[in-house]
Amino acid sequence: MTELTGFLGYAYPWVLAGHITFVIYWIAGLLILPRYYVHHHETSAGSSEDRAWIERERRVRSIILTPAMVVVWLLGLTLALHVGAFAQGWFHAKLALVIGLTGYQGWLGSYGRKLADGKRPVDQRTLRIMNEIPGIAAAIIVVLVIVRPF
Ligand code: HEM
Repeated sequence: MTELTGFLGYAYPWVLAGHITFVIYWIAGLLILPRYYVHHHETSAGSSEDRAWIERERRVRSIILTPAMVVVWLLGLTLALHVGAFAQGWFHAKLALVIGLTGYQGWLGSYGRKLADGKRPVDQRTLRIMNEIPGIAAAIIVVLVIVRPF
């Protein structure tokens, strides 16, 4: 396998396996949290149920989302250097989508803080629609990295 000749050598398949594993955790977190926000919306600010959702959301962000995103980026950029992906069109499109997902996670973080302050600025229907973003983006990213259409 030619990928074994880069600087990673025989570590390449392990780094790739780690990358895909943490991609699964990251996307799972990006799908869970907006769903939590939809349910949280139904509680009244200051209630015990409101405080319980605030704690659940904080844990998803600190235990799943942030660590998984950091590991996906670190292993992904390591792979990109190893296989020379920066010169390939599919990778440019992939990187643009992944930067978009990272921005989406940033929005989720700021929205979680608003919910914790008792605010409910976005209606539930919009939250449900936004919940589809990570799933659609992940599907396009996987096609880009496996099929490499350009
Ligand atoms: C965060 C930034 C990311 C970077 C820099 C990155 C970079 C890379 C690179 C360079 C490869 C290796 C390709 C090869 O072995 O030739 C790879 C593999 C892969 N990446 Fe990422 N990736 C990132 C995020 C993601 C995300 C968010 C997903 C899915 C939603 C994803 C899915 C995959 C898959 C499925 C593979 C395996 C492809 C194969 O074995 O042919 N990556 N990634």
